[in-house]
Amino acid sequence: MNELTITTPDDWHLHLRDSSRMEAVVGDTARQFRRAIIMPNLVPPVRNVDDARAYRERILAALPPGSHFQPLMTLYLTDNTSPADIDAASDSDFVFGAKLYPAGATTNSDAGVTDIARLDAVFERMQARGFMLQVHGEATGSEIDVFDREKVFIERSLERIRAQFPELPIVFEHITTRDAVEYVAAADDRLAATITPHHLLINRNAMFAGGIRPHNYCLPIAKREVHRQALLQAASGGNRRFFAGTDSAPHSQSDKESACGCAGIYSAYSALELYAEAFEEAGDFSHFEAFMSLSGPAFYGLEPNTGTVTLERREWTVPATLPFPDSPLIPFRAGEVLHWKLRGNTNE
Ligand code: NCD
Ligand code: ZN
Repeated sequence: MNELTITTPDDWHLHLRDSSRMEAVVGDTARQFRRAIIMPNLVPPVRNVDDARAYRERILAALPPGSHFQPLMTLYLTDNTSPADIDAASDSDFVFGAKLYPAGATTNSDAGVTDIARLDAVFERMQARGFMLQVHGEATGSEIDVFDREKVFIERSLERIRAQFPELPIVFEHITTRDAVEYVAAADDRLAATITPHHLLINRNAMFAGGIRPHNYCLPIAKREVHRQALLQAASGGNRRFFAGTDSAPHSQSDKESACGCAGIYSAYSALELYAEAFEEAGDFSHFEAFMSLSGPAFYGLEPNTGTVTLERREWTVPATLPFPDSPLIPFRAGEVLHWKLRGNTNE
């Protein structure tokens, strides 16, 4: 097989940042995807429908001419989010969920929720409105081993939220463990999960290959090979509750290559090609279109995109650096050869 044509895909989990950083990266996503769920972890975060409207307008204004890209906005849940905030977002036609960041879990999560029980009234309203909850599924206590945080979050938090709000639709974002794969597979149709290209392609060894590799560091952190294999099976296996979400999260080279380097992998430049690389490894493209383009919209209650994109088998090299304010952006797999290329994508 030398060509793959699929319905135009979407990215169900994306960090676009703001201002000049957003302007530097938004074109990469717009070249590959029609829509993306835009993460709200700006500083300060996107807390209500007015913040989301203004951010959406800044994104639209930064799109390359002729782009049809649609940003699907989200709210950032804080200790002060109210049921009225949920109503206003749910009434809008541009907010598609609210994101739960346990406080301190990841980049710009200081404003996150300190005690999930405080959100009961908010979850109640989200459940009543059928409004999507997106979760960063990592427990945060400093006593918890960084590689166990996802598993502990399932046991301590996700179980409780799902038991208390059984009708609440939830996306367990960027899952990284076999535990999460099994948990989602065994759950009812209110729970789905996104999977990133990098968690399909690297295990935790990639952070330490011959020395410390900050550009392979993200949160949730990559896990053992056995977990990567479970993710590959989940992504390629055809279960409609697993779908693509890149978690592409740009940080400048100087912010990554630092004594306290930022978490985040920039995959937007070649997201579709990276996913194709993973499916090739899994040896089965039969559910590639479902994973990239059909299952996400179905779970969000949206129509799939019209139109198609074509990937062709062709070697090309990911650039070593990309332009970014202050210091360059190092894309995932920088300088390495990929084997699939999106046709008509002008990003070489
Ligand atoms: C994200 C970021 O940089 O905003 N970082 C990351 O490692 N994925 C935040 C997040 O999604 O955890
Ligand atoms: Zn993210």
